[in-house]
Amino acid sequence: MANDSASKLTNELRYDGRVAIVTGAGNGLGRAHALLLGARGAKVVVNDLGGDIHGGGKSSAAADQVVAEIKAAGGSAVASYDSVEDGAQIVQAALDHFGRVDIVINNAGILRDSSFVKMSADDWDLIYRVHVLGAFRVTHAAWPHMRNQGYGRIIMTTSAAGIYGNFGQANYSMAKMGLIGMANTLAIEGAAKNVLVNTIAPLAGSRISETVMPPQMLEALKPEYVAPLAAYLCHESSKENGSLFEVGAGFHAKLRWERTRGRHFQGQAFGPEEVAQRWQEIVDFDDATYPRNIGESLMSIVQGVDSSFGQGKP
Ligand code: NAI
Repeated sequence: MANDSASKLTNELRYDGRVAIVTGAGNGLGRAHALLLGARGAKVVVNDLGGDIHGGGKSSAAADQVVAEIKAAGGSAVASYDSVEDGAQIVQAALDHFGRVDIVINNAGILRDSSFVKMSADDWDLIYRVHVLGAFRVTHAAWPHMRNQGYGRIIMTTSAAGIYGNFGQANYSMAKMGLIGMANTLAIEGAAKNVLVNTIAPLAGSRISETVMPPQMLEALKPEYVAPLAAYLCHESSKENGSLFEVGAGFHAKLRWERTRGRHFQGQAFGPEEVAQRWQEIVDFDDATYPRNIGESLMSIVQGVDSSFGQGKP
């Protein structure tokens, strides 16, 4: 037993000397991320606006509570009550209190669910501002510091609703898919400076999900089951970059794009009729390919393109 625990301690992933910002850390998933990083030696900026799940109100209680929990466990943390829309102030809090920023977990989120026919412009805009603009503002303010120090780990929090779509969540799906696009490009831009960016699509019982999930399911979906993946991706030993993971209830998996082999009408005239005629080939996933980057995607589209290109009917 003694040996077991000794080897466990030797292998423990630590974050000593690292400064982590976790947005929306007053509840649910953000709280779990913050507690785990705090317990492993990171100095944590516990950011939370303290509003309700629809983006209304404001309170310092949620962030204060998590800061108190981290400190009670022997860790180091400071509260930030700013909205992620004022992301520069959150990063400034990290610099003022701890002198640097190494990790950003963009996690703050709200819901404004409504079928598209009833969705207001405010429902659309507020979801964009908190999820997309908020993640942009925090990340953009942290970015130069990470580049200059040659170290950074950034997490975006997406959702199955973004990846697959979900009734009543057109605004949320838009925002969550937007974060994946942002992460994909930041992963490319940050790689040379050891600033790595990954995205998680969690499933967890929280005040956001308790409205739609039965109690026994919530028990199996503790936010604590999502935090280890986020923490691993934020560790200096992880070189994972530009990836997307589904995680929840202990399940961990990576996603990628799949493309059918497709049909090239190269060198021949084609219109909707030819597309219709070859439809089964266009949508057949036998012999599918998995483009990993824009180069691999473009290559098979333009390969063999010659002077006959452009004969398609308008
Ligand atoms: P939660 O409601 O328990 O926590 C979200 C936190 O974000 C709250 O404490 C809230 O005060 C804070 N927040 C909201 N707006 C903010 C703002 N403008 N600035 C700073 N903080 C703000 O919800 P949960 O479930 O922990 O969600 C965390 C993230 O995970 C969200 O981005 C959510 O969309 C995402 N997510 C959650 C899933 C789940 O199954 N719980 C599924 C997929 C995605």
